[in-house]
Amino acid sequence: MPCKLSTLPMRSILLSILLLLLALACQPEAANPLDESPYSLDVPAGFPYPDIPEDNELTDARVALGKRLFYDPILSEDSTLSCASCHKQALAFADDVPVSPGVQGRLGFRNAPTLANMAYLERLNKDGGVVKLDLQPVVPIEDHNEMNLPLREAVRRLNEHPSYPADFLRAYGKEASPFTLTRALASFMRTLISGSSRYDQYVNGSVSTLDEAELRGLSLFFSERVGCAKCHQGFNFTDNSFRNNGLYETYEDPGRQRITLDSEDEGKFRVPTLRNIALTAPYMHDGSLPTLEAVAEHYNNGGSSHPNKDTLIHPLQLSEMEKADLIAFLRALTDHAFITNPAFSKD
Ligand code: HEC
Ligand code: HEC
Repeated sequence: MPCKLSTLPMRSILLSILLLLLALACQPEAANPLDESPYSLDVPAGFPYPDIPEDNELTDARVALGKRLFYDPILSEDSTLSCASCHKQALAFADDVPVSPGVQGRLGFRNAPTLANMAYLERLNKDGGVVKLDLQPVVPIEDHNEMNLPLREAVRRLNEHPSYPADFLRAYGKEASPFTLTRALASFMRTLISGSSRYDQYVNGSVSTLDEAELRGLSLFFSERVGCAKCHQGFNFTDNSFRNNGLYETYEDPGRQRITLDSEDEGKFRVPTLRNIALTAPYMHDGSLPTLEAVAEHYNNGGSSHPNKDTLIHPLQLSEMEKADLIAFLRALTDHAFITNPAFSKD
């Protein structure tokens, strides 16, 4: 009997706890699931703060969703390829083959570039055919030679997925759509900022971080005579212009001309960043130069003749040592913190 007396209140206490727990568990469902906690972007010294579009402010939830999508093969036709299949973190989000295979091994015609510092580009792709990072993901997802998945099918898969819908609600307060899918990927890519190579440490005051050969290479790179920095200039080693650097007499890929249809743009490509360049071989729009030695040789020879070849490209008469020094400098542009940053890795 004393036992019964004490179990009664005990039961009602348990019941109230249960009810309270249920109420708490239900609350987030009822509340607005949108999580607007701002993402704190790590901008290196000497870099400007990138422009973030008003309709896609950077939040933790958007960046996390973008990262999940970036590493998920769900965005390819046969669920075999993710963005990271061609943009590998260990290679500064580039690839190590001239042309990366898309679904069913199909090959496109361009070399996969680094995704470092995308937040700063005014025009995307080597021909500048895309004018906004927020729209760029449509290209690889739908491209026949890349992921080959119609955007509406990608969106359907995500909305039928057991856990993506909650992630989209947290990030945008909306379901997956062409808008939210591409914006989330762009948000993740905006965080991929690379600016802590040994060269940056040198520029920011640690004089001892570059050795003699690298310092000689630096002087050559920025010199009037060699002139690399006339095109590869500023914090991201590009002036963002489109130039013909004399790779061919006849271009199979017309480059910028594909977009403008102007013959004066034939063989012009966006001047690429040289950050992490030692990791992103092979080089040029088609990956035709296998090594930095081959690149140095190309510029030293002054390139092939083409009516659009830039006047800054001409024979340089570099000695063997100068070529080696120039390459040593380019190797000092590797940012190890960037390629090992767990914030950018697959969870
Ligand atoms: C099959 C390989 C492949 C896959 C998969 C792929 N890409 Fe790419 N990516 C490329 C190539 C090749 C280019 C260069 C295209 C060009 O210049 O026309 C490129 C270019 C880009 C660029 C522009 C870079 C610049 O310098 O202008 C961005 C951004 C990008 N990809 C993001 C993505 C995202 C996001 C995904 C996943 C949705 C993805 N890529 C999937 C191969 C790939
Ligand atoms: C006239 C402007 C210009 C000058 C000067 C110039 N470059 Fe380039 N550079 C380019 C363009 C444009 C490309 C891309 C060409 C392509 O994609 O086919 C490029 C590509 C490269 C690449 C390959 C990048 C990649 O991701 O594939 C390297 C490395 C490079 N340049 C280094 C140098 C060095 C070193 C010098 C000085 C000796 C130099 N460049 C001078 C315009 C220039």
